[in-house]
Amino acid sequence: MGTLLVASSVSAEEVRSRALRLGIPDPAVIAHRGASHDAPESTLPAYLLARDLGADYLELDLQRTRDGVLVAVHDDTLARTSDVAERYPERRDSPVSAFTLAELKALDAGSWFNQAYPARARASFEKLRILTLDEVIDIAEGNPERDPGLYIETKVPDQFPGIEAQLQARLDARGWLDRPGKVVLQTFDRNSLGLLHKSMPQVPKILLLWVGKGAIEPASGQSFAESGELDKAAFYARQQPRDHAEFNRWLDAAVQGGAIGTGPSAARSGGGEQSYADLIQPWMNQLSHERDLLVHVYTLDAPEDFTKATAAGVDGIFTNRAGALLRHYGRPAAHSEAQLLRGHGY
Ligand code: G3P
Ligand code: CA
Repeated sequence: MGTLLVASSVSAEEVRSRALRLGIPDPAVIAHRGASHDAPESTLPAYLLARDLGADYLELDLQRTRDGVLVAVHDDTLARTSDVAERYPERRDSPVSAFTLAELKALDAGSWFNQAYPARARASFEKLRILTLDEVIDIAEGNPERDPGLYIETKVPDQFPGIEAQLQARLDARGWLDRPGKVVLQTFDRNSLGLLHKSMPQVPKILLLWVGKGAIEPASGQSFAESGELDKAAFYARQQPRDHAEFNRWLDAAVQGGAIGTGPSAARSGGGEQSYADLIQPWMNQLSHERDLLVHVYTLDAPEDFTKATAAGVDGIFTNRAGALLRHYGRPAAHSEAQLLRGHGY
């Protein structure tokens, strides 16, 4: 490890004040792809549920169709979360950008969830549709008693030239750029961060952090593929930044790119698909706070992980289980997840 020292600590109150000045709740509950533990990610019930539970933000991954419409889809391809293999077998592995909106809207984006998670399956999840950005905005605006913000990631932005300016135009047209703290923009891509900042200088931005080649250089010098490891979570749990200076270099990039904070990865106590390198160690959060950067960690779902992350000093958490995180923060919804889903006919 390097020898960079943290000169002085910044109080939790100072960090919280900065967030609140920006209009960002602290701690912030960021519903990752909606309430995606309880309903298929990035679909209508996932976002309705996150909104009605009281999440501060609906998180979405922004991509663009072949005919130029902004849509909420996480993966580069559609095979994991839709029936693309049956409907368009020759394009099973094609990128989202290879499909028109009409073609995407013909996909079933819900049945995969019932098969993957039978204990949480609902017949009403079958044939759910992929959503456009405008439809997610409609959901966010749809409950007079709840007013969630939007936490938007430019996904694989080099596939979508101009997407940052296009996003600006849509948010402006919908009146969302005049609402301080209601939109937060996020990206792993430093070039996209710069373009977002150019298009929307007044909107808070987060640089997402990741250990790996092309991102924070790992101490191991290895990628997952090179490691020969079979368990991804176990591999990532061992990954660390090369040294403190390398971590600090990415904080520099965040500041220089106009970000107001970072979105570091974290290891999950239960491991699994969304368990990555632990980038919320107290020294990291302290260093970020020293640089006036908020810390919003992705993606935690277990109460013990919420407790650990809170103790380590994070300012917000991306979670698939917004209801559980709201309970952790002492902001429980009046109704359970099941009651809310039933209320919407699911
Ligand atoms: O956007 C924060 C977090 O969502 C980043 O990871 O892969 O789930 O988009 P991913
Ligand atoms: Ca994301």
